[in-house]
Amino acid sequence: MIVIETPRLILRHLTLEDTEALASIYADPAVMKFVAGTLSLEETKEFIEKIINRYEQHGYGFGLWATIYKLDNQFIGRCGVKPLDNKCSELEMAYLLSKEYWGRGLATEAAIAIRDYGFEKVGCNRLISLIDHGNIASQKVALKTGLTYAKDVQMWGENVRLYAIYQQIK
Ligand SMILES: CC(C)(COP(=O)(O)OP(=O)(O)OC[C@H]1O[C@@H](n2cnc3c(N)ncnc32)[C@H](O)[C@@H]1OP(=O)(O)O)[C@@H](O)C(=O)NCCC(=O)NCCS
Repeated sequence: MIVIETPRLILRHLTLEDTEALASIYADPAVMKFVAGTLSLEETKEFIEKIINRYEQHGYGFGLWATIYKLDNQFIGRCGVKPLDNKCSELEMAYLLSKEYWGRGLATEAAIAIRDYGFEKVGCNRLISLIDHGNIASQKVALKTGLTYAKDVQMWGENVRLYAIYQQIK
């Protein structure tokens, strides 16, 4: 099911049929440098199974979504908005694309649409992004999406930079 469409991208629910396409992206050390290291085909399958379980647990409006480049209809990564706890009290924007598609403004295009979706459809007050200190591209995407650096926090056993944006009261 399609969740978000932008001029160049479709963000839809992941299915097990995406395993090979995602696994080839997750096998790239450059892509996974700041995201927990590379994953095998089997690990990617388990990852997608968890994501599908979380759609069921948190509702189909949340999670990581397959990201499709409309021009060539290719699966180019996964982006989305994921709850950091079971109560969905804190939502993190996430984006990860195949290296081939970097540098075209696609992550920013996805992130802006995810931000608007989070505020308008999910109705959350704040969205965050947790980013490794060395991940400059991701920090730039956060800034271009209107997030600002708030503080350093401990997450996943690491010190990371927390960027945040609040819903504007109209
Ligand atoms: C982070 C990521 C999603 C960005 O995707 P993208 O489509 O290339 O992003 P955009 O083109 O929208 O913007 C990237 C910005 O970072 C800049 N950038 C990229 N690498 C950079 C670097 N090493 N140093 C400085 N700036 C850099 C680009 O020039 C661009 O900025 P600009 O618009 O001012 O020129 C992509 O690099 C990726 O998938 N990385 C691996 C997964 C990951 O780390 N995800 C984030 C986890 S927090």
